[in-house]
Amino acid sequence: MTIESLSHFPDLQSVSSEQFWGLLHLAARLKDERKRLGANAPVCAGKALAMVFTKPSLRTRVSFEMGMHHLGGTALYLSPAEIGLGTRESAPDVARVLGGYCDGIMARVFEHKHILEMMEWGTVPVINGLSDFSHPCQALADIMTIWEHLGDPSKLTLAYVGDGSNNVATSLMQAAGKVGMKMCVVAPAGYQPDAQVLADSGADVYVSADPDAVAGADVLYTDVWTSMGQESERDVRLALFPPYQVNEDLIARTQNPNVRVLHCLPAHRGEEITDAVADGPASLLFPQAHNRLHAQKAILAHLLGGVALE
Ligand code: CP
Repeated sequence: MTIESLSHFPDLQSVSSEQFWGLLHLAARLKDERKRLGANAPVCAGKALAMVFTKPSLRTRVSFEMGMHHLGGTALYLSPAEIGLGTRESAPDVARVLGGYCDGIMARVFEHKHILEMMEWGTVPVINGLSDFSHPCQALADIMTIWEHLGDPSKLTLAYVGDGSNNVATSLMQAAGKVGMKMCVVAPAGYQPDAQVLADSGADVYVSADPDAVAGADVLYTDVWTSMGQESERDVRLALFPPYQVNEDLIARTQNPNVRVLHCLPAHRGEEITDAVADGPASLLFPQAHNRLHAQKAILAHLLGGVALE
């Protein structure tokens, strides 16, 4: 069965459950194809992706650049200093110019409205490589990792521990709604999910400030306590979040000897996660990071390479 095609990838609210599963299956196929044959079909041959960054990146930059390379296309890195998105030049103008040179835009922005403006004014697919609202590419790789290592996500519960109001938590809730995965968001008051975002996600989410709420979780997930752009809040957050550190005690509180741990990285080791957990037997941190490549390739193969979702 062919699934309706996507035009852009701004967040997961605009992606149906069928489309999300279609991307997951395509990511798995591309991963398997490269493993078995040593290469992917060049479905993006002759295509170019503009990568607009207003913030630093390791995983997003390299996975998209290598993803285009594996699919036979080219990626162009545009650093924060070069474009000045929203300062030197408006997002609508940037999108209209880049659309004349390139076949797609992947952008990492501070303000989500810049993603929406590029979609509105540009002529090529726009992919959100992280905004203040969401990180949909990360969530696709996260669910791929859970599916690979633990099986059917609809039979699992993920406990997200830390800042439950940030972009990674938001995209995870939206992803959970697509695949029927239960979630528990364990976060202090003031850092819990926005009620509207939670309702729109369609996910079964339990919210608590009590770290003991991780009991029964199959996956523990955390992210930095202070995201990019929130540096002025760092001292306040460092005082508030230590009870939510993912450490061996929190793992024991899940009462699940098979619990696995995810983190989108980069990690502030010793803050939201300890070395013992990040490098321990429960950790899936590096398979998760590596799956960014395969998840991003699925988005590129579909949006730029015209590969149908099935
Ligand atoms: N997780 C993630 O997006 O990593 P980067 O910030 O390094 O791209």
